Amino acid sequence: MIKIGIAGASGYTGLELIRLLAAHPDVELTVLTSETFQGQNIAEVFPSLNGVVDLTLRPLDDSITKDCSVLFLALPHIAAMDKLPVYLQSDCKIIDLSADYRLKDPKAYSDWYSVTHTHPELLEQAVYGLPELHRQAIQTARFIANPGCYPTSVILALAPLLKTGWADLDSIISDSKSGVSGAGRKPSLTTHYTEVNEGISPYGLASHRHTPEMEQELSTLAGKPVRITFSPHLVPMTRGMLSTVYINLSEDLSDEKLVEHYRNFYKDEYFVRVLKPGKFASSHHVLSSNFCDIGLKVDSRNQRLIITSALDNLVKGASGQAVQNMNIMLGLNEKTGLMAPAIFP
Ligand SMILES: NC(=O)c1ccc[n+]([C@@H]2O[C@H](COP(=O)([O-])OP(=O)(O)OC[C@H]3O[C@@H](n4cnc5c(N)ncnc54)[C@H](OP(=O)(O)O)[C@@H]3O)[C@@H](O)[C@H]2O)c1
Repeated sequence: MIKIGIAGASGYTGLELIRLLAAHPDVELTVLTSETFQGQNIAEVFPSLNGVVDLTLRPLDDSITKDCSVLFLALPHIAAMDKLPVYLQSDCKIIDLSADYRLKDPKAYSDWYSVTHTHPELLEQAVYGLPELHRQAIQTARFIANPGCYPTSVILALAPLLKTGWADLDSIISDSKSGVSGAGRKPSLTTHYTEVNEGISPYGLASHRHTPEMEQELSTLAGKPVRITFSPHLVPMTRGMLSTVYINLSEDLSDEKLVEHYRNFYKDEYFVRVLKPGKFASSHHVLSSNFCDIGLKVDSRNQRLIITSALDNLVKGASGQAVQNMNIMLGLNEKTGLMAPAIFP
């Protein structure tokens, strides 16, 4: 059994990792960390784990890599930035769910995260863990920068188009909606019940930190700089994400031709489901699963493509994708532990 550590086990992505890995046949959980709850059993923090996982939470320190061979970092950005060089001295494979090592350009990191990157020398070593685009590099990676939830939904929605010449890459807009668990477990004024319930609010307009991550990957795919107007919204649901992406087409194309092209692009990708013409992605159909559903509609009056892309922010948008990356790094079947369909209703 492969020994697994989760730093930040008392958070939402940490709990989701525990849930998925507790049912994974090839691994055992050996290290769970929390600063606030150190010394307590994880089942005291999350009663859903009673009888399933029996481990005491310990603090994040330099020794944790001694007790595991894969370490997931489910921490806020910056919290583990300076630990990476230490952890990389061990034999442990590292999967970082934070944004710290996703951007290749340290200046982009300081511009968008308002802090200077302290280990820019490691940025090239970190493989951006979107398996549908970087599987080969993930197979041999020591260190994965696991993508953000919004970027996963938007990049998967657009990737098949970027080399076709069918669309105007200067016209991309994504209107995206996320459930509140996307903001993590730590309470805040903008995410408490009264602020979120029965309402829908935009936030981070033209300034959300996931923008450079999307632009980095889309530009690499297109082979030229690509920009995006990104409008995220908080919606009153616990988990789930829907991105509705708009892009102008350079020629008349039918729904059928685009669906065929997308299906061909993702033909070997189990976790990306391209819906048939007339069907659109819904957060309901991917909830708690590792699927990303994509539905397409040509607005022929305006020669514009509308792409709907749904995923669960905590699964394909975070912990499920991290487990998918772990499976690939370890040479396991990529779907192991991730086969459960969505929970609906
Ligand atoms: N939530 C999502 O949908 C989502 C999706 C994709 C990526 N992510 C990324 O995944 C990471 C974790 O997100 P989350 O939603 O799970 O956050 P969360 O629910 O707030 O959990 C954060 C965890 O980090 C620990 N922590 C916080 N500050 C720490 C510090 N300075 N040193 C050590 N441990 C610390 C917390 O432990 P204690 O408070 O118990 O000490 C907790 O276990 C973030 O970087 C986030 O951007 C989240």
